[in-house]
This record gives sequence, structure tokens and C-alpha cells, in this order.
Amino acid sequence: MAKRTVSDRESQALEKAAAYLPGGSNGNTVTMDMVIRGGRGPRVWDLSGNEYIDYALGSGPMLIGHANPEVVAAVSEQLSQGTTYFGLNEHAILLAEEIVKAVPCAEKVRFASSGTEATFFAMRAVRAYRGRDKILKFEGGFHGMNDYGLMSMAPSKPLDFPAPTPDSSGIPESLQGDVLVAPFNDIETTSAIIERYHEELAGVIVEPLQRIIPPAPGFLEGLRDVTRRFHVPLIFDEIVTGFRFAYGGAQELYGVTPDMCTLGKAVAGGFPLSAVAGSADIMEHFAPSDLGTPFVMQEGTLNGNPIASVAGLATLKVLRREGTYERLFATGNRLKEALTRLLYQAEMPAQVVGEAPMFDVIFTDHEITNYRSILDRDQPKVMRFNELLRERGIFKNHSKYYVSTTHGDAEVEQTISAWKSALEALDV
Ligand SMILES: Cc1ncc(COP(=O)(O)O)c(C=O)c1O
Repeated sequence: MAKRTVSDRESQALEKAAAYLPGGSNGNTVTMDMVIRGGRGPRVWDLSGNEYIDYALGSGPMLIGHANPEVVAAVSEQLSQGTTYFGLNEHAILLAEEIVKAVPCAEKVRFASSGTEATFFAMRAVRAYRGRDKILKFEGGFHGMNDYGLMSMAPSKPLDFPAPTPDSSGIPESLQGDVLVAPFNDIETTSAIIERYHEELAGVIVEPLQRIIPPAPGFLEGLRDVTRRFHVPLIFDEIVTGFRFAYGGAQELYGVTPDMCTLGKAVAGGFPLSAVAGSADIMEHFAPSDLGTPFVMQEGTLNGNPIASVAGLATLKVLRREGTYERLFATGNRLKEALTRLLYQAEMPAQVVGEAPMFDVIFTDHEITNYRSILDRDQPKVMRFNELLRERGIFKNHSKYYVSTTHGDAEVEQTISAWKSALEALDV
């Protein structure tokens, strides 16, 4: 397959990116040597006009594909009414109502603009609710870019549990005392940490499927039991899984209801909106109270922005249609099975990990249970594989295939032949 052609326009844009953006990048974990011009359904085009099947989906938001006509129509109509008011708008209220109907743990909803903010505010809320400071998170768990979330998300030299290591420079050292780290899918160690620290714990935050690693049978149930036993609120970070794994998210798919969750990506249809949702007794802390309930301040210029809210409502309307999730899972499973078969035929030590709407290959022969079990995976190999795939018209981020409801037979077949050819090239 020929290398992609790069037009003068794209080269010039990349030169400007190098001049004006640190590292020529917007900071995201996807290749930065191409500039995307647009997308439609399951495909995107770069500035040079090369076409790709898109498995990045904007890092997840475009669950119903790019430029969905119903979302475009709803947004276009709202644009002429003004784009933000700061005060309440009807669309955000209707979106909150829809979230409460859909998501098992949701009794009340508070909007923010990004996943990073949503997890940050969820953690602030449980600290106010409990009157304690410590947050327990899982090693390898990703909760955005706030200082708490960026503890032991990708430690190169993990410490003994529950000690955290900051993933970024610029995080105050003092915060390390407020974060405990546990191993995902290890309920014994996690329970022991919760039991030992419960007097100081504000809450536990977990991705119900950590990155692409599914919860082991009984893990989420065990976590629910132990947090309930010690009255420690459990937060599911469903920024990725919300409305993707089922209409009610991972909590519906896995049948475990947390006290709170965070939502983003799909719920905003590609616009900047996120949400914290949860039980009324915790969520009421977001409202000033005459009764002495500790108040959690959470103002935001774009909270519940009307454009994002109509995009979210239009997206959810599409997702509610009969058969949507069945088709999404059927497509994802076809892809997962084909990739598993091709890797087996190529005799590569590799596993396809995740759920149908979101998965990737991990080059390892160990059992995959948590962050430490994939520390010695062959990461350069996956990067090379991704690069070979991009040359073959497949665009994805570093560590995930996101499948949309618009990926169909043509995309599946084209992807399988790209995988075949890329695996042959990878083998040499
Ligand atoms: C599980 C999870 N939580 C939080 C975030 C942060 O969301 P955002 O990038 O909107 O800040 C992400 C982003 O990918 C995520 O995957």
C-alpha cells in the first residue's frame, strides 16, 4: 500500500503547528503528523484528502458517527437562538431528566464542560459529604487531567500499594497524602486498604472497565459491598462507558450501581459537556443549604451549555432507537473476533481486550488483569501496528478502537483486510 500523500496545505499547517503549539501538538495521544479536515459517519479525511475509517471517534464522543444529520439539525437550530446564557436553559434541564431516566445511580445531575472537571467535582462532592479528604483510585485508572486523577495513572516504577506516584510534573507533592492507590481486579488488596483507611476515606473512584481491561467476575460487586460496608461513596467514572456499553452505561451492563458517576463524551454528542450524577443525598451538596449541609462550589461559564445539551439530546434520541446497541455490539464483536483470529494465525503473542464498543490488542502472553499485568507488553509493536494501519486507511488513537453505530459491513471488511496486510508487514 502506498504511503499517504501529503499536500502542500497539510505540510504548511503542520509547520505552523510546530511553530505555535508546544511539541506541534494539542497534547492528545494520537498521531500528530496529520491534520484532520472533517468527518462523516465512520470516516474522516485529512487536509490532503486521504480517507480513513475512524476508530478514534474524537476519543469517543462520536458514538453515532461524525456529523449525524439529526445532531447537525438540532445544533443548527439552536445556534440561531444564541450559544450560551449562563442561566438555566430548557435543553440542559431535559438532558438532566434523560440522564436520570437512563442511568441507575442518577437521581440528580450537575453539568460541567469536560471529563477532567466532572471527576474533579465528583471527588470534591464526596469529600464534602464525608468530611474526609482521601480518595482511593486504581493504578492505571484514568480520570482526566486533574491533580488527583493524575496519580498512578501510568507509573513507570509503581510503588507498593497504596502509595501514589504523580504522572505529571507540576502536581503539588502535598496531594500525594490525599490519594490511595489499589490494584484493579484485586478485591482482597483493595478491601484491605479500604478497611484500614476507611476513617480517612472520602470516596473510591473507578473506571468500571479500566481503560480496556474488563472487571473480573465479582470485582465490581465486591467493591460495591466493601464501600457500602464502610459507608464510603463509590464513584464510577463513566466518561467513556456512559451511554456506550448500554443506554444506562457500564452500571447497567455489569449490574452494579455506584453512588455517583461521571459522564462525558457520548452524552454531549461531540460538544464540550460533562456531568456528575448520583444519589440525591450526595448531589445536594452542590446546592447552598440553610440546613448546614457543606456546600460544594461548582460554577462554570459553560455548565449545561445549550448547544452541547441539544447535541446530547439528539444523540441520546438516536441511541434509544430499537436495535442500536445490538447492532453496535454485533459490529464490535465481529471486529474483535476477526482481529483475534488474524493474530492467532500470525502466531503473535497477543490478546484482544475490551468490550465490543471499545477494545484494542495488547501484545503479551500474560493473563491481563490490571495495570501491572501489562507493564511489559510490547508497546513499540502496537505503535508500529497503528502506524501501518494508518498507512492502510485506519485511524485510531494509541490504545483503543472505538466503534460507532455507523460502522457497517463495508468498514468491517475494509478493516479486516487492512489488519491482514498490516500484520504481514509487522511480521517482517
Ligand atoms: C475514564 C475517563 N475519565 C475522564 C476523562 C477525561 O475527560 P476529558 O478529556 O473530557 O477531560 C477521560 C478522557 O478520555 C476518560 O477516559
